[in-house]
Amino acid sequence: MSKAPAAMRLDRLLANMGYGSRREIQQLARAGQVTLDGVAVADADLRVPVAPELSQRLRVQGRPLDPPPGLALMLHKPLGVTCSHKEAGALVYDLLPSRWRRREPAVSTIGRLDKDTSGLLLMTDDGGLLHRVISPRAHVAKRYRVDLDRPLRGDEAAVFAAGDLMLDGEDKPLSPAVMTTLSPTSALLTITEGRYHQVRRMFAAMGNHVTALHRDRIGGLDLPGDLEPGAWRLLSEADVAAIFRAD
Ligand code: URA
Repeated sequence: MSKAPAAMRLDRLLANMGYGSRREIQQLARAGQVTLDGVAVADADLRVPVAPELSQRLRVQGRPLDPPPGLALMLHKPLGVTCSHKEAGALVYDLLPSRWRRREPAVSTIGRLDKDTSGLLLMTDDGGLLHRVISPRAHVAKRYRVDLDRPLRGDEAAVFAAGDLMLDGEDKPLSPAVMTTLSPTSALLTITEGRYHQVRRMFAAMGNHVTALHRDRIGGLDLPGDLEPGAWRLLSEADVAAIFRAD
C-alpha cells in the first residue's frame, strides 16, 4: 500500500513523524527513551524497517510508535469542520493527534467533503493511494444520502443516469449517476466523479435544494455504524481493497 522506503534511520524517521528534531531524537535515544523490541536503542542512526508492524515493536517514551509512513485512515467527518490544512475555523486535521501535523510526508484528505457535509472521509500520507482513489480513470463510486427541501419531481433518476446533464459553468456533461428514492424528500445518489459541490449542484439543476448531505460509502467501503462523528480508525489492507471493489 505504501511507497515508503523499506528502511530508514531512526532519527530521520521519528523527526519526519513529528517527534522532534533529529537532534532531539538523538537525545531521547541516548536517554534510553526509545526502545525496539523492549531494548533501548542508544544510537539513533540505526536503520529500522518502515512497516506498520514497527508500531508494535518501537516505543518512544514508553508509548507505541504512531503509524509509520504509508498510513491510511477513515474519519467520520462531522458537520462544521473543513477539509483544509489552513482555513480559519475547525479543520479535519484537528481531529487527529496534534503531532501528525508535523509529519512528512503530510497526511491529506483523499478528495474533500464540504464543511456542511458529514460522513466517510479517507485520509492518507500515501500519494500513490490518494491518486488511485481520486483518479477519474479509477471510477471509484461515492454514495451520498441526500435530504431535500422539496419533493422529488420523479425524473431525477432518469436525468442523472443519462450522463448528459451539464452543470452551470461547465463544458463537459456529468458521467451517469445512480439515484434511488428513499422518500419524497430523500434519496441515495452514487457518483463516480468529484466535481465542486457536485451533488448539491446536481439537485439545484433539478430545481431542488439539498438540506443535508452525508457520504456513507466509497467504492465498496462503508462508513462503519460504530464510528461516531469525529472519530477515525486506521484502514486495514482489506479496507483498502474494498475501496476498489465495485459493489
Ligand atoms: N457533493 C457536494 O455537493 N458536496 C460534498 O461535500 C460532496 C459531494
